[in-house]
Amino acid sequence: MNKKEAFLNAMNERHACKLFNDKKITPEDLEFILEAGRLSPSSFGLEQWKFVVIQNQAMKEAIEAVAWNQQQISTCSDLVIILARKNVRSSDAYTIKQLQRFGLPAEAFNSFVDMYKGWVDGRDDHTIEMWSEKQCYIAAGNMMTAAAFIGIDSCPIEGFISEKVDAILGIDTRIFQTALVLPFGYRANDSRSKHRLSFDEVVEFKK
Ligand SMILES: Cc1cc2nc3c(=O)[nH]c(=O)nc-3n(C[C@H](O)[C@H](O)[C@H](O)COP(=O)(O)O)c2cc1C
Repeated sequence: MNKKEAFLNAMNERHACKLFNDKKITPEDLEFILEAGRLSPSSFGLEQWKFVVIQNQAMKEAIEAVAWNQQQISTCSDLVIILARKNVRSSDAYTIKQLQRFGLPAEAFNSFVDMYKGWVDGRDDHTIEMWSEKQCYIAAGNMMTAAAFIGIDSCPIEGFISEKVDAILGIDTRIFQTALVLPFGYRANDSRSKHRLSFDEVVEFKK
């Protein structure tokens, strides 16, 4: 199989897995998946995410109970919770630290920060939180594809009560909020057939 075939094969194999079997993901494979998240792109290079890996069964069950009792959560091998960072205003220390990493000369840095201010500071908190969550979804997509590439299943989960998951995790909600619940493991059942719009329905070329 060439690289393109191998990649598309992984894309086809990935499905929203509803139930996992008992098989555990090895630490090396889990690290590979998390690396795909860590290396993901983010707006302004802000990396406004954190990946919390839940391996504790009682904690998985508590989260499942506030996520429509979706069994993927308690049956998975590793439950990744993606947290979105909320404190990303231009005055926040985290933001400054991230923007400084590019090592720009003072003048270029100041205009970069001005551009950032123009983008972020005029927007309300909810819009900013959703902006951070968008970045988290990119990391989630990459982690799911990476997992599928090595034969590991996953399921993106948005069906949960955010404040309750935040409380179970004990996170500081001034800094983070739960963006996505993302279990990984090995499927217990065959996947359903894939339904997608055709290429021509979703792709439009302007020549
Ligand atoms: C952001 C997002 C949230 C989702 N939330 C849930 C969920 O809470 N529970 C679930 O079983 N599937 C969830 N899904 C899975 C979708 O239903 C699924 O990806 C879609 O139906 C296509 O099926 P496939 O992924 O098996 O190809 C979610 C998918 C995305 C991208």
